[in-house]
Amino acid sequence: MNAKKYLKLGALLGIAYLLNSFAVQSGLFTDAPRPVKLNDRIEHKVDSLLALMTIEEKVGQMTLFTSDWDVTGPTLRAGYKDDIKKGRVGAIFNAHTAAFTRDLQRIAVEETRLGIPLLFGYDVIHGYKTIFPIPLGESASWDMPAIEASARVAGLEAAVSGLHWTFAPMVDIARDPRWGRVAEGAGEDPYLGSVIAAARVKGFQGKDFDNADAVLACAKHYAAYGAAQAGRDYHTVDMSERVLRDVYLPPFKAAADAGAWTFMTSFNELDGVPATGNKFLLTDILRNEWGFPGFVVTDYTSINEMVPHGIVANEKDAGELSVLAGVDMDMQGAVYYAHLANLVKEGRVPESIVDNCVRRILRIKFMLGLFENPYRFSDTDREKRTIMAPAHLETARDVSRKSIVLLKNEKNTLPLSKSTKSIALIGPLADNKSELIGSWSAAGDSKQCVSLLEGVRTRFGTTTKINYAKGCDINKSDKSGFKAALAVAKSADVILVAVGEEAGMSGEAASRSSLGLPGVQEDLVRDLVATGKPVVVVLMNGRPLAIPWIADNASAILETWFLGTQAGNAIADVLAGDYNPSGKLPMTFPRNVGQVPVFYSMKNTGRPFDANSKYTSKYLDTPNTPQYPFGFGLSYTTFSYSGLKTSASSFRYGETLEVRVTLKNTGSRDGEEVAQLYVRDLVGSVTRPVRELKGFQKVFLKAGESKELVFQLTAKDLAFYNQKMRFRAEAGDFDLFAGGDSDAKLSVRVQLLE
Ligand code: BGC
Repeated sequence: MNAKKYLKLGALLGIAYLLNSFAVQSGLFTDAPRPVKLNDRIEHKVDSLLALMTIEEKVGQMTLFTSDWDVTGPTLRAGYKDDIKKGRVGAIFNAHTAAFTRDLQRIAVEETRLGIPLLFGYDVIHGYKTIFPIPLGESASWDMPAIEASARVAGLEAAVSGLHWTFAPMVDIARDPRWGRVAEGAGEDPYLGSVIAAARVKGFQGKDFDNADAVLACAKHYAAYGAAQAGRDYHTVDMSERVLRDVYLPPFKAAADAGAWTFMTSFNELDGVPATGNKFLLTDILRNEWGFPGFVVTDYTSINEMVPHGIVANEKDAGELSVLAGVDMDMQGAVYYAHLANLVKEGRVPESIVDNCVRRILRIKFMLGLFENPYRFSDTDREKRTIMAPAHLETARDVSRKSIVLLKNEKNTLPLSKSTKSIALIGPLADNKSELIGSWSAAGDSKQCVSLLEGVRTRFGTTTKINYAKGCDINKSDKSGFKAALAVAKSADVILVAVGEEAGMSGEAASRSSLGLPGVQEDLVRDLVATGKPVVVVLMNGRPLAIPWIADNASAILETWFLGTQAGNAIADVLAGDYNPSGKLPMTFPRNVGQVPVFYSMKNTGRPFDANSKYTSKYLDTPNTPQYPFGFGLSYTTFSYSGLKTSASSFRYGETLEVRVTLKNTGSRDGEEVAQLYVRDLVGSVTRPVRELKGFQKVFLKAGESKELVFQLTAKDLAFYNQKMRFRAEAGDFDLFAGGDSDAKLSVRVQLLE
């Protein structure tokens, strides 16, 4: 670098430093763009290749088509082979297995004019073959190393099966349990959602792409898809920019910062403009504010869907809107395929815009090393050795038991006593495998799943008599099986009843208007409780349920979500006390559907709840409080919190405040607790939620042991988008709360000074 340039750079850095320190001094923070260092060698190759490409070949790179799934494995749709040969497709999804992807790659590399390799994508949401808990369930572990490990295994198994790219993580904040896709995300909270988003991105993408064992992550669905009106999938989203930025965008920013190389647009509209044609989201925020260097793919045919949305009259206009908004790749809609070259020829879309899209896609193909070795991810031998390796099953069992939440445990019903002579295992999900791998289970084979009955037999079978009866189906009205179930129940010391939802009742296009147990399952539980025996309800479901009667009347309740391949073993570990449950709810469980949306970080209102005053914010027929709050989960031991204090009673912008609290295991078993720190900003230039999660630690303590935990807070942690839509921490009083759930009572006040 010559001296002049050096001085110029120095001056710029100096100005940046001054601006930054001025910003910190005034409590103003920016969402600093991700620092990206592009590789000059790769950039040069991308440009050289781009210079050789026709407009049709460029559009080809921007086109993603699906393959199908036949009984024997994935197959290609009629006509797509020709499209690959003509260079009109740059990426394929739902094609997997090392052998099949190798075949398709060969066509792209050997039979097209430029030999550009294909990119293979797939929805590896919670495991490829070894299936992990559904993401919402796994989020209940609040255990980042475990979550990262699960994504790592998923990435590894996907990579050896020829895949380069997973359409995960889904980082949509979800506050309405009617929406079936709550199952795919990390729940209701932006802070927890952000840490989990980062852990999943790191897990999928691994350390780097030098080894062929990492897959590209895709943060989806950008943005605000989780706020569909009335919880109905694909429905309208309308929210203030402040809520968008404070609540719905942080996990996306966290995914971008963690290095996610791709983003997927969402189906919904936002403030009248569908996300897939939304320049504000895709260009202004994602690229310009956040400096995202990767490419953006649409969701399935979401360009085409802008016609029924009513924002454009036809698909050609839809293509123009998307590409100008910042969409690089069209998933399955064939709109770019059919119209983009003409849009360029007609001068409606500058070719430079197309070039930039193609650059972003080619850059990633080079980065993955596909030009040097297009088959590096497709390795049949490695595939055989890797898929469902014993270590992967062990990782799955570990994450699965960490995801279980103990919601109730009256009279220490659990863990099951060693003197238990007989167990009645009842319920439509007790001897089931197909539902237990949950929705979006990629190439998972439910036959490989350990059912609850198998898990219980393996763990207790040698010492305890186990009698099984199904009782009823998940979603039918037939009660003829109740009699046999009750007969089995009557001869047992303890009743375990596995009830919940079908896997297909959550996930895409699976919204429900009620949140109770489907069919006659609750009646079955009621009859079992009427026997007077201890009844342990094992819930299996993809969303928060409303189960007030069960909450009041069961002896114990375990929320086990859909735990995947190792479900039965993991639940048995917890039933036996081999693992002491440590999960905490990532989403509020309502008492009834009428309370929805109910989440912990609501606003106070001008008339906060007062039982003695009619004209306050409440219902006539149900409390405001949920059944189980966010962050809630019991253990077989007990924990106490004390001595909450801060390093100073006030602090300034630029300083770090230490928050200390003593956590003690007050019970007689070793166990883990997720200690949570919440903040309330008492007065803001815009109103602030009654509580916001700002930190947590998952801590293991031996029985009787205590530990002082230290959290660190800076002004930036207290910042929010103000009336001018600037991200700023405002001076004033803040209450801090520490405890085991979002209802934590222990508090201390601190002041942030100008
Ligand atoms: C879903 C996406 C998914 C895509 C590809 C869409 O219907 O909304 O989450 O990645 O299909 O399978």
